[in-house]
Amino acid sequence: MHKGADPAGIAHPQTTNYPPVQRSFLAKRSGQLNFPPSPHCAKKSTVQPLRLVLNSYGLVSALIPRKEKVPPFDIREIPGLRKICAHLKSMLKSQNFSFLYNFGIVNPSLHEMKLDHPALVKSLQTAYSAERAASFAYIGHAGSLINPDEKAGVKQIEKDEWNHRSHVLELMKHYEIPVSRFLELKFFLIGKAIGLSCYFIGRFMPYFFAGKLESGNVCEYFVMIRYFHSVGITAHDDILFEMGIREKEHEVFFQKMIKDEKWLPWFEKFFSWGIEKSLNDLDLNAVLPVEMAERYCRHFRAQKSERTS
Ligand SMILES: [Fe+2]
Ligand SMILES: [Fe+2]
Repeated sequence: MHKGADPAGIAHPQTTNYPPVQRSFLAKRSGQLNFPPSPHCAKKSTVQPLRLVLNSYGLVSALIPRKEKVPPFDIREIPGLRKICAHLKSMLKSQNFSFLYNFGIVNPSLHEMKLDHPALVKSLQTAYSAERAASFAYIGHAGSLINPDEKAGVKQIEKDEWNHRSHVLELMKHYEIPVSRFLELKFFLIGKAIGLSCYFIGRFMPYFFAGKLESGNVCEYFVMIRYFHSVGITAHDDILFEMGIREKEHEVFFQKMIKDEKWLPWFEKFFSWGIEKSLNDLDLNAVLPVEMAERYCRHFRAQKSERTS
């Protein structure tokens, strides 16, 4: 019989004289799944059902598309989203959304700040939060007073403190200094606690400690003037000077309120503040011009560190 034809006489396309096993291997490797039957196989061999299965699989797989590998979805690839995000960010920093800035939601990182003076940045952040604490304390203080004139005086001071807070915030926004959430919380609690305590500690002590606090606040603003000058900025002298003078007026108001109290000499001796002693060197009867603001509170930081050490 002629080689390459099966026993039934059907012509076989393969003419190479490979052994049967090797032919099957070559057919598989070339992707020919529907390989021809071996001439050595019988007509009704076990290969026939296998061919049927393979053909069926080919048909089915051709009808059903294979699952393509889908790359993970990246939200940044949405057209225009980057532009929208940049626009939103600039809007949040603007005046329209200043309330978010006030709560510390929009906080530029430290390297983005325009003021390279850590002590000044800290002073502004502290002043901003402490002014609110003072306002809360004076709300409680005014509420605890009976005399309507005294009540009105303390309420006016509370308004001044809110104004100071807004002025300080303007400065912070100008230099993109973030509001400290830690200081906000800390001074919120302090202010509320002091305000509440005013209802329980009588008339004298709220006046005394408010006066002592104001006495220290005076120099905070004059020290800020000096800090600004050290980096060549004089643009805020007027507002800082005015706030410092206003704090001195608060101190004097509280001094007057308790000048005749019998407890004052004892408290003055123990807490180093009263009619004779003060934590600043300002005299409202002889106020220096703004240009000479640096002459005030020159030893304030040193005195403060001595007291705290
Ligand atoms: Fe203030
Ligand atoms: Fe004040």
